[in-house]
Amino acid sequence: MIIAPSLLAANFGKFATEARRIEKATADWLHLDIMDGHFVPNISFGPEVVRVVRAETKLPLDTHLMCSRPEILLEPFAKAGSDRLTIHIELGPDKVNDLIWKIRQLRLPVGLAINPPTSISEVEPFLNRIDLLLIMTVNPGFGGQPFIHETLPKIQQACAWREKKKLAYRIEVDGGITFDTAVECARCGADTFVSGTGLLKHRQLKSAITKMRQMAAAAQAAGANPRTT
Ligand code: DX5
Ligand code: ZN
Repeated sequence: MIIAPSLLAANFGKFATEARRIEKATADWLHLDIMDGHFVPNISFGPEVVRVVRAETKLPLDTHLMCSRPEILLEPFAKAGSDRLTIHIELGPDKVNDLIWKIRQLRLPVGLAINPPTSISEVEPFLNRIDLLLIMTVNPGFGGQPFIHETLPKIQQACAWREKKKLAYRIEVDGGITFDTAVECARCGADTFVSGTGLLKHRQLKSAITKMRQMAAAAQAAGANPRTT
């Protein structure tokens, strides 16, 4: 089970301190939400901020590109210290195909994200070329939104395909993840949990992360498709 707190819910004036707090609290990854004001109606931060965060923590930087033109950003983020790069299926199959090649050329793991309104069938042709499938459980753009329960069948489908096709991509969920919704996702087969406001509001962050990891692991083990890491 991977717990990846999102820096989007942190105090933007204290990214360095927040990154250290998250690492100390035994998070597995640090999730970085990159918004370009075009693919989503919000702007967050760019490669220079990632470079600063990189210097503060050894946590893997899970970089989620909510951007219309990721092709111009892959190399800057890789150079800034991103450890994995996730792009969106909504960019269309031709672009996604090119972007997967480009991320591989940078020798980074590839993530593919899908928004709530998009059919899960869109990602199927790419499953054997990715390391992670990010199932958005809110419409991207802002932290603190309520979890969309209608996304749960997509997690089940992603899990069923993974087993049937004998693949090993991680299934990550992002948006409105709390202890309760993490459990719901884990029951369906999710193994990687992004949480912004749901986790960072806890002053005892280490206990909150440990609790989410344990609850998700227990729920997944009780579910249909257990995964051991
Ligand atoms: C949503 C982002 C999320 C966001 C999640 O656009 O992709 O990563 O930070 O925030 P919460 O956990 O607050 O919904
Ligand atoms: Zn995200």
